[in-house]
Amino acid sequence: MTDAAHGGQEVAMLERLNHEVKEFRFTDRDFQYLRQLVNRETGIVITAAKREMVYSRLSRRLRALNLTDFEDYCRILEEDEQGELNAFINAITTNLTSFFREPHHFDHLQNTVVPDLLNKNAATRRIRIWSAGCSTGEEPYSIAMAMAEVIPDDWDCRILATDIDTDVLMKAERGIYPLERVASLPQSRLKRWFSRGSGSNQGLTRVAPELREMITFRRLNLMEAWPVNGPIDVLFCRNVVIYFDKETQRRIFDKFAERMEDNSRLFIGHSESLFKITNRFELIGQTIYRKRS
Ligand SMILES: C[S@@+](CC[C@H](N)C(=O)[O-])C[C@H]1O[C@@H](n2cnc3c(N)ncnc32)[C@H](O)[C@@H]1O
Repeated sequence: MTDAAHGGQEVAMLERLNHEVKEFRFTDRDFQYLRQLVNRETGIVITAAKREMVYSRLSRRLRALNLTDFEDYCRILEEDEQGELNAFINAITTNLTSFFREPHHFDHLQNTVVPDLLNKNAATRRIRIWSAGCSTGEEPYSIAMAMAEVIPDDWDCRILATDIDTDVLMKAERGIYPLERVASLPQSRLKRWFSRGSGSNQGLTRVAPELREMITFRRLNLMEAWPVNGPIDVLFCRNVVIYFDKETQRRIFDKFAERMEDNSRLFIGHSESLFKITNRFELIGQTIYRKRS
């Protein structure tokens, strides 16, 4: 075989390999454009190390649109053809969640927050809770269970559950989950708050209508205006701002503070902290804060 023929074979092989490894062409320029767009639209900061994650999360969008490279996808986003921006945001967000995640938050809610509120709000008998960044609903349903188990029937307890991602909100509103999602819950809770599907719904479980009625699901981007009527008695914003820069976190927590009652509680994610972010809240427990007066 001549050198030229050999070289040609090598190039062909490399191209084939590249194609096998990567289904879509994805350049540095595409990645920079997408990172900036995500940050502008959602506040999420995507580090250089997340390049593969961006590629894999967006690949299904390129497949759905029958595209062969990211350059065309970026162009579609730039022109926001067919409302692709929404699908893009839905694909890029991280939605990991579970029922009673960080169980000590729900113990604190039942054992400390509720007794305080039953006293403080006795005149109105109203409690308002916000789950900001509620993902597929496990968090607000856990809050609803915890509240319904301890507040008197004639109290008006409502939970606002918001997220930027319209796909997760649809799942949350449906309130139907695979049985594995509730496997770690105690029998007493499963019995009281879930009904197992049968026939074509085998393997699924549905949350009780009483819980669904306590919750209003709504799309809300924390980076935009918040049409939320305060005052909020309890706020959960867990594992959401972890993806934002410090300045954005400060703006968001200060804005939360403006809508919260004095002494009300804020629950944040297990690896988050308000240290050097804002002093509008005082740390009173593990990732549990009290809004200062
Ligand atoms: C990792 S999940 C956390 C879910 C739940 N709070 C928990 O801790 O289990 C983060 C959620 O924040 C949402 N999110 C990200 N950026 C947002 C923004 N700018 N506005 C509102 N929600 C956002 C995502 O869509 C995602 O569902």
